[in-house]
Amino acid sequence: MEATAHKSLKEPIIITTYQTQCLEDYIDNGGYETLKNVLTKYKPNEIIEQIKASELLGRGGAAFPTGIKWNFTAQIKADHKFVICNADEGEPGTFKDRWILEHKPHSLIEAISICAYSVGGDKGYIYIRGEYAESINRVRKALKEAYDNGFLGENILESGFSFNIELRRGDGSYVCGEETALIESIEGKRAFPRFKPPFPGIKGLWGYPTVINNVETLANIVPIIKNGADWFKNYGTKQSSGTKLYSVSGSVNKSGVIEANLGVTLKELLDAAQGMKNNKVFKCALIGGASGGFVYKNELDLPLSYETLKEAGKTLGSGAVLFLSEDDNGESLLKNILTFFKHESCGKCVPCREGYPKLIAMYEAFLENRIKAENIMKLADVMFKTSLCALGQSAKMPLETYFKS
Ligand SMILES: Cc1cc2nc3c(=O)[nH]c(=O)nc-3n(C[C@H](O)[C@H](O)[C@H](O)COP(=O)(O)O)c2cc1C
Ligand code: SF4
Repeated sequence: MEATAHKSLKEPIIITTYQTQCLEDYIDNGGYETLKNVLTKYKPNEIIEQIKASELLGRGGAAFPTGIKWNFTAQIKADHKFVICNADEGEPGTFKDRWILEHKPHSLIEAISICAYSVGGDKGYIYIRGEYAESINRVRKALKEAYDNGFLGENILESGFSFNIELRRGDGSYVCGEETALIESIEGKRAFPRFKPPFPGIKGLWGYPTVINNVETLANIVPIIKNGADWFKNYGTKQSSGTKLYSVSGSVNKSGVIEANLGVTLKELLDAAQGMKNNKVFKCALIGGASGGFVYKNELDLPLSYETLKEAGKTLGSGAVLFLSEDDNGESLLKNILTFFKHESCGKCVPCREGYPKLIAMYEAFLENRIKAENIMKLADVMFKTSLCALGQSAKMPLETYFKS
């Protein structure tokens, strides 16, 4: 898998000029120095203040401020606290976490340890999508190297801080990536999402306060601590700081992971992907994965940041961008999306379990001109308002933005 940095990025944050695969490379390039500094020179709350000041937003889809999340957990007194790295990456069209897992596993281990020190965590988990065999191999190897060299385990770097990380293989369903379902899965139960609140930061794994962050979110931690919050805010837009890994696929000449500023336009991203395949005409792009929204020709200049997409009634989600050409069939793509959600519904709540089969039947009737789009939207809206987790809410945006075309 290839990853490139957009040409406007002189000094990318996540994609560095070297690709880390072994501990020696990582250490030669300053690896684990930040952890050493953190453990010996900083108080936990000073780290949290830096992350808050960076205004880093979670890269797993919901864009929740990371520093605030860490602070919730840090404030609670508890016998145990946990840190979970969410590497389940099941969103269709999203493959950027896989790149980090396979090329920079040590930066992830370093970030999880820094998070644990900051919030008072004593055990960490990396929950990796079951199908990501190579990612699992590389992270497993990196964990062993970290233990063998004193970066994990008892009395890390003789700082008095002890911390362990366990790798868990995902249970093979899209909903396992939903944070509370993931927690149930680690606990050995079937991955059913929990009611929220309480949120995991207050009551998570085994009932203890738990920080759960996406892989890419964590990949930003070491660079922020190393270079400072202001440096990080030089990238991106005012409300969406930093860079983003966009998973670019579809009818483009060069699909792959592209690191660009948050706020890069769709047109710039298309240029970075070397344009449409076979000189076909751009029809639309699906942004934010299967639960995202369609963007059309008149929106090619739309900046891809959290706030601009929200204002436009769409979402950046985890940063998947699927380009469609004049020859691609949007109708069958939409049918696939609905079928995917039906298949992945865990069945715990009625609106999602019963809603998706009905939605598919209605969509087929719509394609045969038997019902109107507004009838479908009524059901999608009820599902959006009443489903227990975001999976049941996911059909509304792709349907709504497709019907508006
Ligand atoms: C159905 C579903 C699947 C999800 N899958 C993932 C996933 O694979 N990876 C991820 O980081 N977040 C996923 N999320 C979002 C998580 O629940 C959670 O918001 C995220 O891990 C928090 O990390 P962040 O604050 O760093 O973004 C999913 C959410 C839903 C509803
Ligand atoms: S919305 Fe769907 S996936 Fe989420 S809890 Fe309900 S049935 Fe399960």
